[in-house]
Amino acid sequence: MKKLMLAATAAGLGSFMLPVTVHAQVAPAEAQVNALEGLFGKQAGSRRSGAKGLCASGHFVGNAAGRTLSSAAVFNGDRVPVVARFSVGGGNPKASDKGKSVRGLALQLSLPNGETWHMANISAPMFFVSKPEQFVPFLQVRTADPATGKPDADKLKAFNEANPETTLQGAYLARAPVPASYAAVSYWGANAFEFVNAKNESQFIRWQFVPEAGSVGLTEEQLKTLPDDFLADELRKRVAAAPAVFDFSVQLADKSDQLTDPTKVWPDSRKVVSVGKLVLDQVATAAGGACDNITFNPLALPKGIKPSADPVLLARPAPYVISLGRRLAEAPK
Ligand code: HEM
Repeated sequence: MKKLMLAATAAGLGSFMLPVTVHAQVAPAEAQVNALEGLFGKQAGSRRSGAKGLCASGHFVGNAAGRTLSSAAVFNGDRVPVVARFSVGGGNPKASDKGKSVRGLALQLSLPNGETWHMANISAPMFFVSKPEQFVPFLQVRTADPATGKPDADKLKAFNEANPETTLQGAYLARAPVPASYAAVSYWGANAFEFVNAKNESQFIRWQFVPEAGSVGLTEEQLKTLPDDFLADELRKRVAAAPAVFDFSVQLADKSDQLTDPTKVWPDSRKVVSVGKLVLDQVATAAGGACDNITFNPLALPKGIKPSADPVLLARPAPYVISLGRRLAEAPK
């Protein structure tokens, strides 16, 4: 920590010396992006998370049940154009599609009144940290020690014991089969949001996209026969025959539900209301496309949908923009 004395001149007050404390620290959002690069390597031109993926497009149609919960124009019943991106979790653009990481579904909805709604959803109902401060140490204890080429098992164990909620997503993914298709797995927003309707009534919710094709997982035998890259071609073939369709539903929070911890799922007994349908009928034929230069900022919300006070949700835009800035400034490998 350095102490600097800065001279400042205030109009009418003459000159004075202002003591300023400068912390030689990296901003939290930058540290989060650096920690992703530490774990996955610096992958030029790629997203630092959800690095492997492909663009798709289609439309979203909201319904009357959505209108009773939110005044957002997205529920007015018209077709809303959508740019989508499917991804494999993590910051490695060459990750295997057979890995037990999350799959991602990111969406940009362009509303008729000019508003934009961004989402970045994952194929697990919970996120891996309950607080943004856990993000960096969560990744660091999984990063290989240069001396051994492996993560330090004792540090990992100590972190898991001190932060047991950060093991819930991994346990969920270990139990779930590897998805057979980007279009045959459910995606959750994990963070809570507030829907506000035309009467100014408020309801906290969590959303979910459920595939009309059903959830289809791969068996161990099927995994052995598949290459590391199959999801993109599977989606192209599937959508050439018929659109990939997802039901969009919201789970309604009860007063007792935790709104600020994305590792805690709400009880299954909570009411779930179908409020729209996502139809994806185009898939990029090669790498690149309309989704590439977008960062899906989960606080880009239309009127009628508000963020909850979940600190993990509120922390997301800053690292996303840093990752966007870095990847746009780099030439892809
Ligand atoms: C503190 C918490 C989080 C941090 C630091 C973080 C960081 C990041 C970063 C840096 C990116 C790359 C953005 C880009 O280059 O455009 C990203 C992408 C992504 N994140 Fe997060 N994230 C957090 C929380 C979450 C949560 C809670 C979810 C979902 C429940 C999520 C889902 C995704 C998905 C699906 C992508 C890929 C989006 C795409 O295809 O462009 N993240 N995240």
